[in-house]
Amino acid sequence: MTGVGDLWASLPVPTIVIGPGDEIVDINSAAEGFFNASAKTMVGLPLWDQLAVDAPLENSLARARKNGTPLFVNDVDVGNGQRAPLQCALQISPLMGAPEHMLMMISPRELAGRMTQNHSVKSAAKSAIGMAEMLAHEIKNPLAGITGAAQLLSMNLSQEDLELTDLIVGESRRIVKLLEQVEQFGNLSPPVRNPVNIHDVLDRARRSALLGFGGHMNIIEDYDPSLPLALGDADQLLQVVLNLLKNASEAAGSTGTIRLHSYFEHSFRLRRADGTGQSLPLQIEIIDDGPGLPDGIAGDIFDPFVSGKENGTGLGLALVSKIISDHGGWISVTSVPGRTVFRLSLPRASKPDTTHTNSNEQTKD
Ligand SMILES: Nc1ncnc2c1ncn2[C@@H]1O[C@H](COP(=O)(O)OP(=O)(O)O)[C@@H](O)[C@H]1O
Ligand SMILES: [Mg+2]
Repeated sequence: MTGVGDLWASLPVPTIVIGPGDEIVDINSAAEGFFNASAKTMVGLPLWDQLAVDAPLENSLARARKNGTPLFVNDVDVGNGQRAPLQCALQISPLMGAPEHMLMMISPRELAGRMTQNHSVKSAAKSAIGMAEMLAHEIKNPLAGITGAAQLLSMNLSQEDLELTDLIVGESRRIVKLLEQVEQFGNLSPPVRNPVNIHDVLDRARRSALLGFGGHMNIIEDYDPSLPLALGDADQLLQVVLNLLKNASEAAGSTGTIRLHSYFEHSFRLRRADGTGQSLPLQIEIIDDGPGLPDGIAGDIFDPFVSGKENGTGLGLALVSKIISDHGGWISVTSVPGRTVFRLSLPRASKPDTTHTNSNEQTKD
């Protein structure tokens, strides 16, 4: 069609063309793999007989078809009746030029990022954090004593022995830092949400990264200047961007490039299995050209204490995920060597005039 090869056959995401009566009209080769069946045998079969989804989708699909609007469903279990269901995101949109036909893409979770709404911090993770918090509190006091004692000792020591007390002090400091991160996680208060200029947040994060941990990086700004204000807690969002920049800087070897990309995506809606939804049109991407997520942990990086680094805490992305979740937002990641993209999707501030001034002045709408 387009003269650039066979798009349909090349599309790496399992994709189905759905006819007006919810029958399968075509599937691409990735979907043949997903269903473990050929397109020939699948065509004409009722979609819902072939695809087991743990959310009531028929009505939403009918509505999307009727209104000609796209439909995104995140974190549903999708099975084909033969093997264990996979957690997937479904993206459904009207097929242009074919009335009543819909296109459905099935992205397994590894590709699709992760639902950060409500159940994001799983209960097991929550209790792990609760316990770590308690321990953090209990360990910090004796640790301060140990550090103090080592410092006292060091006053009468020879150079050789000083190295040992320095080691005690240094290592204790490292532990205190870790504990403080755990405590920070527990102390996180709910976001105080106001209209926020995301570009200010990105700028602040960029500047402080360049002065500190990201001094070896080249950080490029690629902003949509017409982006409306977001609804969020500026300090917490700064923390989010800093954590993502820090990870990107740590992933790069001696040097690397990070692109901060903002854009507006009008149709991005988060729709949950229970039918509620929220519009999240502001997109912020933090893109680095480092080696990508380590293989073994790619699916779990948002869980606390999951780290691919020798001295990592695994708390950075857990905190990011919690903050974005508290904002009603969404975070996803795609990663291949040379290109890792963390994408934040945030709600916009509903009215441009919700900022309050100190005067009695009426703001106009
Ligand atoms: N931009 C990135 N590129 C490659 N790997 C990343 C990136 N961001 C995060 N990771 C991986 O995710 C892991 C978890 O990150 P995080 O929760 O911040 O913990 P920590 O940085 O303490 O290890 C990291 O250890 C790293 O392996
Ligand atoms: Mg980190």
